[in-house]
Amino acid sequence: MIKVAIAGTSGLAQYIGYYLSTQTSHQFIFLSRNPNPGLIAKGWQVIAVDYGNSSDIEYKLTGVDTVISTISGQSQLALIDAAAQVHVRRFVPSEFEGRPSARLQHDPLDRGKKAALNRLQHHQNYGMEYAAFVCGIFYERFAPGGMAAFQIGNGTYVTGEGDYLMDIRNKTAQIPYYDHTGQEICICMTSAEDVARFVVAALDLPYWPTEFRMAGERMALGDIVKIAEIMSGTPFNRTIHTLQSLQTSLSYAKAVGNVPQQWRLHQLIVTTRGCYDFVDTSLNGMVDVQPKTFQDWLFAVWSQEL
Ligand SMILES: NC(=O)c1ccc[n+]([C@@H]2O[C@H](COP(=O)([O-])OP(=O)(O)OC[C@H]3O[C@@H](n4cnc5c(N)ncnc54)[C@H](OP(=O)(O)O)[C@@H]3O)[C@@H](O)[C@H]2O)c1
Repeated sequence: MIKVAIAGTSGLAQYIGYYLSTQTSHQFIFLSRNPNPGLIAKGWQVIAVDYGNSSDIEYKLTGVDTVISTISGQSQLALIDAAAQVHVRRFVPSEFEGRPSARLQHDPLDRGKKAALNRLQHHQNYGMEYAAFVCGIFYERFAPGGMAAFQIGNGTYVTGEGDYLMDIRNKTAQIPYYDHTGQEICICMTSAEDVARFVVAALDLPYWPTEFRMAGERMALGDIVKIAEIMSGTPFNRTIHTLQSLQTSLSYAKAVGNVPQQWRLHQLIVTTRGCYDFVDTSLNGMVDVQPKTFQDWLFAVWSQEL
């Protein structure tokens, strides 16, 4: 049995807490800036933390074996330093997206992730292990109500229903089919709930590489939309994009000051550049987790809506 600290209380953090409590005998605490009576009512321990105070973070991490971070930016850097200071054994940074090595040089969606991995590489030399969990896009982006309905993605600016790739309720899709080499664009996807199951299962693995990759599905963008069309029983109004048309639209969104549209376009641009695509799903073969297929997940979440 180990002691785990989950930093942050969004939907992903809560899924991780749920699977820690139901699938393991590990002790766990949430670190939060807020009181969170809803989580306490579930019998979970929520410890208040001040990320601006290193002594406070170190004190709250005393006795913790593994930190699972879902927080970003400067607060995460402070958490990493505090964890190293009190000899936390393992640290999971707030990644849970595409492969870090596939990120763009100047990634507008970075949210301090690159800096966090650099800091972790530094602390690894002094004994703290870390692993980034790479899972591609969350299925929850395609849910009724979008990721916001699962309290996920507040920091991504694309939390709403229909903000990414397709708007199922309004039967429209924005699809970049091909990359600059003419290859069909694919993405890996996993439900946030399954990501939590993978992370919790990986806690028991004796050896951690610096990157675990997992996926529920790897699909071409056109096939993802096709599944939603079959579910809806009608073809969608598809707008076909190229990298160039996305960049032109981004320039226009910047010119007119349409910030939400800029974030939606950034997401499609990194998708077109292959940032969410990978083939080697190492963690799928290492733990006993059977992720849901995209079609099963999508049909289940929309069953009451369409
Ligand atoms: N693959 C995908 O499609 C996808 C989509 C969305 C998110 N994600 C990943 O999921 C993880 C969580 O992202 P998210 O957008 O759901 O969460 P988020 O909005 O970044 O917030 C996560 C937690 O950070 C804490 N927090 C928020 N603002 C903060 C601040 N200014 N200072 C310190 N702490 C702050 C909050 O915890 P407290 O209020 O409890 O302190 C919150 O619960 C990230 O790793 C992200 O990359 C992946």
